[in-house]
Amino acid sequence: MEAGIFFGSQTGNCETLCQTIHKHLGEGVVHNVSDISSDDFEKFDLIILATSTWGSGDLQDDWDLQLSEIESANLENKFVAFVGVGDQEGYGETFCDGVGTIYDAIKDKKFNHIGLWPKEGYEFEESTALRDGKFLGLILDVENQDDLSEGRIKKWIAQLREEMTRISKIEIEEVRAEV
Ligand SMILES: Cc1cc2nc3c(=O)[nH]c(=O)nc-3n(C[C@H](O)[C@H](O)[C@H](O)COP(=O)(O)O)c2cc1C
Repeated sequence: MEAGIFFGSQTGNCETLCQTIHKHLGEGVVHNVSDISSDDFEKFDLIILATSTWGSGDLQDDWDLQLSEIESANLENKFVAFVGVGDQEGYGETFCDGVGTIYDAIKDKKFNHIGLWPKEGYEFEESTALRDGKFLGLILDVENQDDLSEGRIKKWIAQLREEMTRISKIEIEEVRAEV
């Protein structure tokens, strides 16, 4: 399983967290989205899309410039997971909205969306990263809950592994049933 972790980061927080994700994943490549093209996403089986949020719910600058690259990538049969980095206390009305923006750009494409994350344990008013009561991906907050980040990352990676195993088994069974 080849993993690509793609981050957009203004002051380094999202980048540092992605290095921690990489460490616990124990494999894969960490890419800054500022210098990638759609082909780069397609090289991986597991694609982790990580962004911070800026302005008032704005997507991080490099992601904003590169959004068309993930939009035009072929994600069929890929596992796609999201990571949002934001500040729930300072920006509780647009908490990690950047994740919602990336998700909306690709949601009509075919891929296996994994790594949804519970909203419990966070205090915020609104977030476009929240859909049907769950976050679209792992949500991390360096400003207010930095002490929780590494534990959340470990738990999330275990969840990713479990989901990928389960989905792969179903796909194998489907292929067998067709033969
Ligand atoms: C001017 C400014 C605007 C911000 N806007 C938001 C926001 O709308 N939503 C949010 O969740 N966090 C917001 N943040 C918090 C950043 O996302 C947070 O500091 C994050 O850790 C930055 O990560 P980065 O260094 O990887 O870009 C803002 C921070 C600043 C300084």
